[in-house]
Amino acid sequence: MTHDQRPIGVFDSGIGGLSVLKHLLHHLPHERFVYLGDTARVPYGNKSAETIKLYARQCAAFLQQHNVKLIVVACNTASALALDVLQRELDVPVLGVIEPASRAAAAGTANGHVGVIGTRATIASNSYARCIEASATSRVIVQSQPCPLFVPLVEEGWLDLPATRLIAAEYLRPLIANHIDTLVLGCTHYPLLMPMLEAMLPGVRLIDCGEWTARDACDILAQRDELAGPEAQSGMYFYVTDHTPLFTSLAQQFLGRPVNDPVRVSVDHLTDA
Ligand code: DGL
Repeated sequence: MTHDQRPIGVFDSGIGGLSVLKHLLHHLPHERFVYLGDTARVPYGNKSAETIKLYARQCAAFLQQHNVKLIVVACNTASALALDVLQRELDVPVLGVIEPASRAAAAGTANGHVGVIGTRATIASNSYARCIEASATSRVIVQSQPCPLFVPLVEEGWLDLPATRLIAAEYLRPLIANHIDTLVLGCTHYPLLMPMLEAMLPGVRLIDCGEWTARDACDILAQRDELAGPEAQSGMYFYVTDHTPLFTSLAQQFLGRPVNDPVRVSVDHLTDA
């Protein structure tokens, strides 16, 4: 065990990355985390590849100013469109969520029918289908479904209302018809809908990318000898790019512990250099 007390940086377009942070806190209890939610510009999932790359570079540059030892791209959309750019440009390791979740899906399916739900940009990138097929040892059929209405519903805190269930039923119908036995929640906002999705999909294994990403984060830091020791001062520091009234209450509800209000950082102060 080493004693690297530099924080881990985590970013998402909004509150979705909290679903990854939850698993990071569980697997890495002695670490400090700096979380940036780009709430002024959420959702990323309906934007162009160029815009998503620009935003991702700006978020990563902000985290680097906090001397982070690892950046976790807790956003599938940014992982799909910008992970390679960030890994090329930055001098700290950068971990995305798609590869860990794809490995878990490929290993978890019994009948070879895997569903993926995500934002329009993530699904259009085909990253999950490619990555799941590459990870599988036998034939897998991947069926993808964009669910663009889920992100605003989650940001609004509508986690299990009749309207949310109606929309979910519409999105899930083609996947259920194709007898998927495994469903990747390919957007970090979606695990906040987990109780509702579990009730609607009995017998389907739901893959939460945060769980598998957190394990990889642990492995990366251990291999680099950069884990914080038990004497380290753990903690979470939240930043958002716009005032988000529900952030603190949703974060507390979802992380199951008290959190400080986020500090606002203007997008005008984000640079990609
Ligand atoms: N939570 C993000 C993801 O995993 C982004 C959602 C969005 O901003 O559209 O894709």
